[in-house]
Amino acid sequence: MAILVTGGTGYIGSHTVVELVQSGNDVVILDNLSNSDERVLGRLKEITGRDITFYKGDIRDRGIFEEIFAKEKIDSVIHFAGLKAVGESVSKPWEYYDNNITGTLTMLDEMRKHGVKNIIFSSSSTVYGDPDQVPVTEESPKKACTNPYGWTKSMLEQILTDMHTADSEWNVVLLRYFNPIGAHKSGRIGENPDGIPNNLMPYITQVAVGKLKELSVFGDDYDTRDGTGVRDYIHVVDLAKGHVAALKKLEPGSGLSIYNLGTGTGYSVLEIVRTFEEVNGVKIPYVIKGRRAGDIAENYASPKKAKEELGWVAENGIREMCEDSWRWQKNNPGGYAD
Ligand code: NAD
Ligand code: UD1
Repeated sequence: MAILVTGGTGYIGSHTVVELVQSGNDVVILDNLSNSDERVLGRLKEITGRDITFYKGDIRDRGIFEEIFAKEKIDSVIHFAGLKAVGESVSKPWEYYDNNITGTLTMLDEMRKHGVKNIIFSSSSTVYGDPDQVPVTEESPKKACTNPYGWTKSMLEQILTDMHTADSEWNVVLLRYFNPIGAHKSGRIGENPDGIPNNLMPYITQVAVGKLKELSVFGDDYDTRDGTGVRDYIHVVDLAKGHVAALKKLEPGSGLSIYNLGTGTGYSVLEIVRTFEEVNGVKIPYVIKGRRAGDIAENYASPKKAKEELGWVAENGIREMCEDSWRWQKNNPGGYAD
């Protein structure tokens, strides 16, 4: 039996495919390449030594699922496919709800039609909104989201929960990712944003490689140790391994499970900048700007539940994350085009 990985040519998906294959799983990828590059597949072959079956298609298209379920033996889905740019979601809410929600609803209907009722879903720490207390545990309340992207995650968690309530044959794992950064040690796959990056680490690496002049630090007046925002950065390979560990919660009768995937330690923007400079020997010029709309001061995970129930802990520290992000960017300044 194989695992269908939607969004498997994207940043987190591609790293997860490597870990799945290397732990002995058969994988089929479905991706419409709206935010990824087909050349990832060649890189995945270099790393794993395997040709990964790939379907180019959209999760809103029933036809592609009919084809995949007819041709492949799928027993579970790891669902990464979705749009994820927070700012863009504010200006294009319909597109985000259509892609992420209509797409997932279509996929879930096709899955149940074909008797496939095991799913791991990419959720986000964004569902905790501005938390009253850190670290956040899985029991911390979900709060209002500040943008349509966040709402799609929050709503899809509810939809999957209700599907499981109505039909206990569904096994659902909701993985709430904190801030994935870093890249595979080979330097062959990594994050490849289109245009100017919105997130901190890809912005830093593009400054380091000379594509961007300086980093804007969004706010130094938060109630944190140095006034800049604090987040729980997690190495993408650790995050990928979290999915392999979560497969055991798709065994029959597992039901619904929710896990934070983070390290449990928060770092400020300036701590990230300094660590990046120190481990890589490059300078990151920066200017302090005003706060970015929708940002919160501090968020980090309690990763205790994932450790206790999945036996999973993040192994890489912030130094490795900075080193590996830089190796990827330095070796591939133009992304997969190089
Ligand atoms: P990504 O954009 O690199 O990967 C998503 C992939 O899904 C892309 O390859 C894209 O082409 C594909 N896709 C999008 N819409 C599709 C559709 N309608 N049909 C088929 N394929 C489609 O993003 P990522 O960083 O790898 O994130 C993966 C998942 O994890 C997303 O659901 C994202 O929202 C979630 N997530 C990401 C982060 C993060 O910081 N990167 C944090 C929390 C949650
Ligand atoms: C953001 C999203 C979140 C999403 C996540 C995906 C917002 C409000 N939140 O999280 O919903 O799940 O990305 O990874 O957009 N920073 C700078 N300068 C920059 C970029 C970022 O100072 O150029 C700061 C931010 O203010 C923040 C920290 O760096 O304090 C991390 O930002 P980012 O990487 O964008 O992640 P989040 O905002 O945590």
